[in-house]
Amino acid sequence: MKKLTYRFTHASSDYYLLSGMSQLKKITGPDDTVLITDEDVYAAHTKRFKGWNAIVIKPGEEFKVQATVDSIVEQLIDMEAGRNTTLVGIGGGVITDLTGYVASIYMRGIRFGFIPTSILALVDASIGGKNGIDVGEYKNMVGVIRQPAFILHDMAFLSSLPVEHWENGFAEIIKHACIKDAAMFAQLEEYSMSKYRRSAKAIGTLIERNAVLKTKVVQRDEFEKGERRLLNFGHTLGHALETQYELLHGQAIAIGMVYACHISEQLTGFKQTERVVNLLQQYNLPAYAQFDKQKVFNILKMDKKRERTTMNYVLLEKIGKGVVRSITLTQLEKIIQDL
Ligand code: GLY
Repeated sequence: MKKLTYRFTHASSDYYLLSGMSQLKKITGPDDTVLITDEDVYAAHTKRFKGWNAIVIKPGEEFKVQATVDSIVEQLIDMEAGRNTTLVGIGGGVITDLTGYVASIYMRGIRFGFIPTSILALVDASIGGKNGIDVGEYKNMVGVIRQPAFILHDMAFLSSLPVEHWENGFAEIIKHACIKDAAMFAQLEEYSMSKYRRSAKAIGTLIERNAVLKTKVVQRDEFEKGERRLLNFGHTLGHALETQYELLHGQAIAIGMVYACHISEQLTGFKQTERVVNLLQQYNLPAYAQFDKQKVFNILKMDKKRERTTMNYVLLEKIGKGVVRSITLTQLEKIIQDL
């Protein structure tokens, strides 16, 4: 079984990429492990959970809240889970976030790992150690940074992933290309969603490239003082939109990325907005939307990236080169209102 080990400040994580869930028992014994998944993943892959203890929660972002944490903790107590228990989150970003968060607070912290089952979780949510929950309309307002002991990939889970969740995940892949990887951007332009969905090799290689790209950014700046901020490209406005409108995360950040491109035109002289818009549309993601700008700006102001009167906004100098610029809230409000 191929293993890559990545060191972070306080821990290291073992990555088993292009692997399979059948390998899980070599990493963590079934008697000391509790799997956490959602009803959709469980229903589509029930057989794979045989022989394991599992907690199955309702699917959806609305369950990434404290009430679900309480319920999981109560179930862990009922199961007599102890300090030597390992939690394994098998699912999309909601499951990986919840699992990492519960594992970080249960008995002051137990071991955890992930088997991400959506494109978004494979390339983004499972990587980086940020685990947390939403509070009201504020996304990821409460949480920790703690790295998983392991991440195991099994592409077989993608067979049950609805097409809009493929699109949702491709928004993060396009984000990575925009901020760091011009060659990948060009490759995405060449390919199409149907080509990736048809070829296990093409999607497996793309996922590996993105997982490694994000991991290396996090390794260099785990606590988000500099380079890691680039990963928030499209997310400042995107998160605000996501909490106000019925949008998938990827759709919201796609719109956020296009706004950030337009803001970049004014602040960095960026000239490739059209290529970004075309690529998003090629992967069936929205580029623009009508929204109540004042309402969204009011939410955006509360973003964790805000300092007193300024905000660190991620912009592009060119495709493949993201930069962070500090903008005053007044300037940002004006640009957004005028766009
Ligand atoms: N868990 C996602 C991140 O750390 O960015």
